Amino acid sequence: MSGHTGAGELARFSIAIPEELLAAFDAQIARGGGPANRSEAIRDLIRASLVKDELRRPDAEVIGSLTMIYGHHTGDLTRRLDAVQHDYTAEIVSTMHVHLDHHNCLEILALRGQGSRVYELADKLLGLRGVKHGELTCAATEESLER
Ligand code: NI
Repeated sequence: MSGHTGAGELARFSIAIPEELLAAFDAQIARGGGPANRSEAIRDLIRASLVKDELRRPDAEVIGSLTMIYGHHTGDLTRRLDAVQHDYTAEIVSTMHVHLDHHNCLEILALRGQGSRVYELADKLLGLRGVKHGELTCAATEESLER
């Protein structure tokens, strides 16, 4: 990289990569629906990595969604899920609950707050016995998305 690379200027670099890995990467790009070429794909990967790193800073402000599927007949799971959520009223912006069938519930939480609090909440909820599937998807707020 050159010494001076301000915003908007493009730097060029070469990388060494196993042929098979590159072929798989090219095939993925060729399938479409994502980045148009290698350069764009690699820029996306680097940005995603930077955002992910930023989310690990405990004071970073994040927004996210937590999706859970659970069986509401499992012990007192519903009550325990509720008890945890009542300790994070500042972080939980909105919740949606769908009764999927006789046994299963889908719950989606919209979250906003300090990364450490949001991840802590997700860990507590997803760690409860009876939660069958769960996933936290986080994005940083605008400040770190500017790059
Ligand atoms: Ni339900």
